Amino acid sequence: MAVFRRSRIAPLLALVATLFLLYELDFSVPHPPVRPAPARPALHFTPSTGFNWSTAELFFPVKPLTPLPKGPRKQLPKIQHNFGKHARNDAVTEARRLMVRDAFVRSWESYKTFAWLQDELKPVSAGSKNPFGGWAATLVDALDTLWMMDLKDEFYKAAQAAVDIDFSKTEESGVNLFETTIRHLGGLLSAYDLSGEPALLAKAVELGEMLYMAFDTPNRMPGFWLTFENAKQGIQKAGTYDPSAAPTSMSLEFTRLAQLTGEDKYYDAIDRVRAFLETSQEESLVPGMWPSQINFADQSVRNGNTFTIGALADSLYEYLPKMFVMLGGREGSKSYEKMYRRAMDVVSERILFRPMIKRSQSEAPLLFAGTLWIHEAGPSFVPEGQHLSCFAGGMFLLGGKLFGIAEHVATGEALARACGWAYAAFPTGVMPELFNLVHCGPRDDCAWDEARWAEKGDPRLPWGFINARDPRYLLRPEAIESIFILYRVTGDEKLRDVAWDMFQGIMKSTKTEYAYSAIKDVTAQGETIKEDSMESFWLAETLKYFYLIFSPPDVISLDDYVLNTEAHPFKRT
Ligand SMILES: *[C@@H]1O[C@H](CO)[C@@H](O)[C@H](O)[C@H]1NC(C)=O
Repeated sequence: MAVFRRSRIAPLLALVATLFLLYELDFSVPHPPVRPAPARPALHFTPSTGFNWSTAELFFPVKPLTPLPKGPRKQLPKIQHNFGKHARNDAVTEARRLMVRDAFVRSWESYKTFAWLQDELKPVSAGSKNPFGGWAATLVDALDTLWMMDLKDEFYKAAQAAVDIDFSKTEESGVNLFETTIRHLGGLLSAYDLSGEPALLAKAVELGEMLYMAFDTPNRMPGFWLTFENAKQGIQKAGTYDPSAAPTSMSLEFTRLAQLTGEDKYYDAIDRVRAFLETSQEESLVPGMWPSQINFADQSVRNGNTFTIGALADSLYEYLPKMFVMLGGREGSKSYEKMYRRAMDVVSERILFRPMIKRSQSEAPLLFAGTLWIHEAGPSFVPEGQHLSCFAGGMFLLGGKLFGIAEHVATGEALARACGWAYAAFPTGVMPELFNLVHCGPRDDCAWDEARWAEKGDPRLPWGFINARDPRYLLRPEAIESIFILYRVTGDEKLRDVAWDMFQGIMKSTKTEYAYSAIKDVTAQGETIKEDSMESFWLAETLKYFYLIFSPPDVISLDDYVLNTEAHPFKRT
């Protein structure tokens, strides 16, 4: 298994040499405090020119509106470890933080040069593309990271460009509601929460007014696309087979918008989706969970037969504990907490599994999240890991801390560590998009079985892996996201070394002349093949989480902020 035991010596030598050099230099960058609102705003709001969505006719209005839960902030349990003065803040950590920042600056400079105001940079050909309406997705997504990294001049230039965006102008007939909400609306709201610049909130409201129109359907469930003409004519309908995460993962953004504007209508919109989730939780083929495809038009969860916390369903689950935090525990019925607890009981029992690995591969327990199919003949479980489901470690950790469930903290740790482990298992130091493992069974541990491995496993892959069904790495954040949250929750300094190994793997295998690119195959032994794609979450999420794990733990403390599914921090109130 040469591929598994990749050499640790060379990177170690490189690190020692780097550190020696850095000890000789003054490399300190001030840790930017999160600033209060500016006395004099630096940005000038430019309204969109075309159709004014805030005066658009509503064909399915609702009365009365469900109001945002108010009242004094509840004292919620602390999420972060009590670091005191004990967080390691040495030259090694500082050097790593700066190298992450360098990778960000390098990507950002190329975006500015070759793709300014476009959605994405093409990091191999130095071109650009516009998969999200052509409203500068990478720029809007990167604003809060620019702020955190103390690139303030760049922040203000980019933020001015963001508040100049004309959301009435696009080549498209509509927008992807989920993506525009988590990237653009989330990005504008968090940039406002960090900088206090009123123009950013004004732009968020303008966009929010447009996105709000997607809820103008007969049953107030939004569709997957907001199609402008349909919205103007009052002929929108929810989808009959839509990804379950899409309409259900707008709650944090719309709640923050309601909090900042005092407008209950934004909260009302997403609270109707919550009510549907609540009433349907026991009605699916796997009671307690929701399928990955839902009929939102008929409000039925019976026709979906795939159950996963990965692709299509992920942030539905992620937002349950996060909404509890965003509402400051004020929601009287504790609906989000109840849904979270019930769903995670079922997930723990039917979705999570232990891989069959050699004891020497990991001392810590590892858990992955698989997929459960319900067929006429009965259920079948696929022990398939996904990069996307690596967020689950962070979710269990948050839920475990918030609701005082020690078992969830342990589960979250095992899930997060499994993703870190899978990175280290591949020759590139990066984990594939989709892979199958030899599994032990739900939750049980099992001993290494050489015969079973010989029969099922692929000897070219690391021990325990059956295949890398989709061997790409798309610059995704979910693994470092959970390692970061595990660090902030436990204070285990060794996690920063895990993160550093992951970062080096990504740097080594994704670097292009201009920036960093999605790659075709993480099982490659030598040079990797680049796909000429750099999605906006590279700057919004992946590099942000790497930067934060090497920052002092009070920078974007999880006790002060809740991060949306695109890693945009919203202030807790
Ligand atoms: C759109 O309408 C709202 C509500 O009447 C108004 O406050 C806003 O200024 C209008 N925006 C533009 C660009 O005219």
